[in-house]
Order: sequence, then structure tokens, then C-alpha cells
Amino acid sequence: MSVPVDATPGHFIVLEGGEGAGKTTQWDRLAAALRGLGHDVVAVREPGGTPIGDALRALLLDPASQLEARTEALLFAASRAQLVHDVIAPARARGALVLVDRFLLSTYAYQGAGRGLPLEGLRAANALATAGQAPDLTLLLTVPEPVAASRLAQRGGADRLERAGADFHARVGAAFHDALDAAWQARHPEVGPVVRIDADADLDVVTARCIAALVARWPQRFADAASAQLPQRHAPHV
Ligand code: TMP
Repeated sequence: MSVPVDATPGHFIVLEGGEGAGKTTQWDRLAAALRGLGHDVVAVREPGGTPIGDALRALLLDPASQLEARTEALLFAASRAQLVHDVIAPARARGALVLVDRFLLSTYAYQGAGRGLPLEGLRAANALATAGQAPDLTLLLTVPEPVAASRLAQRGGADRLERAGADFHARVGAAFHDALDAAWQARHPEVGPVVRIDADADLDVVTARCIAALVARWPQRFADAASAQLPQRHAPHV
């Protein structure tokens, strides 16, 4: 059963960014910090977050997968459809804070700008997948290109998307940058509002910037977060 968006009291927050921006680390830290303050947090990542989604994730990231660009786009959308249905819509409906590591904007950046697929096709496939669920806020983490490159080099074992090449990732980065523009956001209401977080700083500083962005948007709900100390490292869970 799908949940009407206007009946959803929870918050749907997405973290986005190119490879090596530190997004997943911050998603983990933000979830822990907000749980530490007593918030009901559901933290999931895309692709994945459900058994079907995790199977699709393995297929999508495996360097041995020979995926045509449209197949790739549709598999990302399929993982998203399952996640929206099983996790995001119900969690939002019960008033939880849903924190998702990547969402639709990644499809526009990677499959649209990166692979060159037409936006209208991606938009149509994802309208089916998201069933009207649009993020309330996206935090777009950015770092200078050399910082991202050196983090990626340290990580090693590049997955299929990470191996797509420098030109591909330059197009992805440019597309994320375009999404910061208010006119772009007005033309893409399905993505929701996007704010930039400068992620070229110590981990605690970046986490504090993410929290400050939430406080700025929802001063009442996150009033406790404004003055809280950051907890130490914890593992996220759904
Ligand atoms: P991750 O590295 O953030 O876990 O994301 C997995 C990879 O999948 C990453 O390289 C970005 C890519 N991706 C897309 O190409 N399209 C999408 O819609 C999503 C959600 C991720």
C-alpha cells in the first residue's frame, strides 16, 4: 500500500555527493548523532536497504556486470521502488527521520549526465519508483577534486561505477553542482531542495555542518541538536 505524501509527518533527508566526498561516513555519523538525541532514525543506503535492493546493489557494483546504460538505470530505479515501498514510506508515515545515502539526484547525475541517458526517461521511470516520495532536504557534500581523488586512491578495490573514468566523474560532479541552483531545483521538484555542505574539513566539523543545515531548516524539530555535543563513533542500523 502506498502512503500519500501529504499524510507523512516524518522527515526524508538524503545525503549526496560524488565519489570520495565522505558522504557515507557522514550519513553514519549523522544517524548516530540524531539517535543519540533520541530521534527515531531510519538510515538506509541506495542502492540497497532491502533484501532485493542489496541483491541489485551487488549486481550494479560488480565490475564483472555487463550492464547496458538503460538496464543500469532501471536496476537503480527498481532498488529505489522496493526501498520506497518497504522502508521510506512506512517510516515517514510513522513520523521517523529517514536518512538515505543517495537517492534520485544520483540517478540524474550518474545515469543522466554520466551515461548520457535522457532526463525525461529517467524521470518517468523514477516517478513510478518513488510513488510521489520526494526528499524534504538533500545535503550535497562537496570536496575539491584532488581531495576526492586521493581518498578514492586510498580506498582501493574500485567498484563498477568508481571505475567509469575521469570524464564520467567530471560530468557527474558538474551535474551535482547544477543541482545547487535554485532554478534547477524549481524545474525538478521531484528532487526536493538541495543544500551544499563543504565536506573538506575534519569529520566532526562536517557532521556539525550537516546538523546545522537541519537546524536551519527545521529549528523546532532539531532545537536539541543545535546545542548537543557530537557522540563518538557508532554503527548505524535500520
Ligand atoms: P555508494 O558508493 O555511495 O554506496 O553508491 C554506489 C554507487 O552507485 C556510486 O558509484 C553511485 C552509484 N549510483 C548511481 O549510479 N545511480 C544511482 O541512482 C545511485 C543511487 C547510485
